[in-house]
Amino acid sequence: MSHSKHLIAPSILAADFADLGKDIRMVNESQADWFHIDIMDGVFVPNISFGFPVMQAIAKHAQKPLDVHLMIVDPDRYLQTCKDNGAAIITVHYEACTHLHRTLAAIKELGCKAGVALNPHTPVHLLKDIIQDIDLVCLMSVNPGFGGQKFIRQTYRKIEELRGLAAGINDSLLIEIDGGVSLDNAGQLLKAGADVLVAGSFVFNSYTPLETVKALKEVDPFLQKA
Ligand code: DX5
Ligand code: ZN
Repeated sequence: MSHSKHLIAPSILAADFADLGKDIRMVNESQADWFHIDIMDGVFVPNISFGFPVMQAIAKHAQKPLDVHLMIVDPDRYLQTCKDNGAAIITVHYEACTHLHRTLAAIKELGCKAGVALNPHTPVHLLKDIIQDIDLVCLMSVNPGFGGQKFIRQTYRKIEELRGLAAGINDSLLIEIDGGVSLDNAGQLLKAGADVLVAGSFVFNSYTPLETVKALKEVDPFLQKA
């Protein structure tokens, strides 16, 4: 791993959209590292979340980097807009990019970190010839489109395989896990090699979100049972 401590990225998808300011302040004050921003188009995924004007409003108040997860077809059309509205990391879906190498180059050209997300059914080995060009791989541990779904256990093996694939080629690669993350699986995910944990409903549906973020941040993978 590239750093000693894992990162926590609360997903705003599970925040109170009628009182976003409160939830943004919570993340600012918490031990979270990034804001995870889910943009959906109703085409790539069967849901629509919010668009760039809302993201811009979030960016105005967020004191931490915006980790933007584009669940949209043809993301190339929106990379500049995404950057202009405050993205620090832009993640596109492997399944939505015909010319992934070109898309990643365009993201970096904008000065953002470049991420690639894989749907649960997409094998890790498809990244073999592009792994050196990726800053972050987001492994979807649910089918993208909705918060609050059940974690898919195959993800553990995908993390290990991806860490192996990147070894010696891209050792600073960040592996992010998105979907169904909670204190039940955080330790095992980190032990398998994850660096970034996205958590939506587990954080925002908890009675004490600040404490929940702290608990996720303090999970120690070395205390995990085999
Ligand atoms: C799903 C999104 C996730 C979602 C995770 O399409 O990419 O970021 O917000 O939500 P939870 O943590 O509730 O599974
Ligand atoms: Zn996401």
